[in-house]
Amino acid sequence: MLRRLHPEQPESFAFTAANQQWAEAQITKYPEGRQASAVIPLLWRAQEQEGWLSRPAIETVADMLGMAYIRVLEVASFYFMFQLQPVGSVAHIQVCGTTSCMICGAEDLIAVCKDKIASKPHELSADGKLSWEEVECLGSCTNAPMALIGKDYYEDLTAENFGRILDDLVSGQVPTPGPQNGRYAAEPLKGLTSLTEYDSGRTQYNASVQLASDLGDTVKRIDGTEVPILTPWLGKDGKAAATKAAPKPPKAPAPAKPAVKQAAEAKAAKEDQPETLTGARDGKPDDLKMLKGVGPKLEETLNELGFYHYDQIAKWTPEQVAWVDARLKFKGRIERDGWIEQAAKLAAGEQTEFAKRAKEDGTYED
Ligand code: FES
Repeated sequence: MLRRLHPEQPESFAFTAANQQWAEAQITKYPEGRQASAVIPLLWRAQEQEGWLSRPAIETVADMLGMAYIRVLEVASFYFMFQLQPVGSVAHIQVCGTTSCMICGAEDLIAVCKDKIASKPHELSADGKLSWEEVECLGSCTNAPMALIGKDYYEDLTAENFGRILDDLVSGQVPTPGPQNGRYAAEPLKGLTSLTEYDSGRTQYNASVQLASDLGDTVKRIDGTEVPILTPWLGKDGKAAATKAAPKPPKAPAPAKPAVKQAAEAKAAKEDQPETLTGARDGKPDDLKMLKGVGPKLEETLNELGFYHYDQIAKWTPEQVAWVDARLKFKGRIERDGWIEQAAKLAAGEQTEFAKRAKEDGTYED
């Protein structure tokens, strides 16, 4: 396939402020004279922001890295993961057409793309919202046939459910990714046949689908405000590289609730609220990042809620866990990562595997 710059190009390209900061931080990963090593992350970020790589975007990256334009164009045109033409404003659909998927119905999915999006790959749909292409194996063969949409896999597809997913995307919804036939991850269709003791106590979806559905942003373009910019290679504390998240748009006011219901909810919320503090005891907070699943951003949120110490977390009851969970962005994380057990150990002066590792290499989760 001929891969060259699109005939129609925008006038200019600029990273968003947060993406610019992220890109500059990436460059510092490499020793002096080796800044060109950041070319793929920067091109990828530009694509995540805009959906595709325009000539101005390629040139901007080249300027940032002190590279000749042609060298960056060579990279962008070599790797198929880079889109050199505009993609759908909502999503670009990548349908796997390799052996397992082909045997299980990829051709039917491609027919749906031709019918609902455009007759040829890399063409925009009439409303400009979707585009599609056939790609090689995406490593999800057990759940064939499948498609990559935005940042997530949609698996065990049929022409019917795939068509519905495309309709939902066009109408502004974010369909739940993962298997579309009800199976859990890549487990046997009829359920587990071994290790069945692990069947209970798991989240509604498998890990990546759970996170995607918690975030609800599977097709959202990356503007840099999603995660803190961590630069642990610049120092052992792994502090955010001065990320200043863009202010969030004000939320629409929630519809008014009946007074009785409001009072009952307020009472329940107060009863379930765990003990909080207005500040760390003696001004010495525990390092909550030693808990697996807590990064700098989450630690900040926990502090804002009034939690500074391991012993506070270790005491949470299930109702209190639900209270805290309702105030965190990633729901279910407390149980999933076992914060209470970890906090109890750390409060007792014991060590956890994760805390040991985090102290050694200075990296945390978030
Ligand atoms: S063949 Fe489609 S994911 Fe592997």
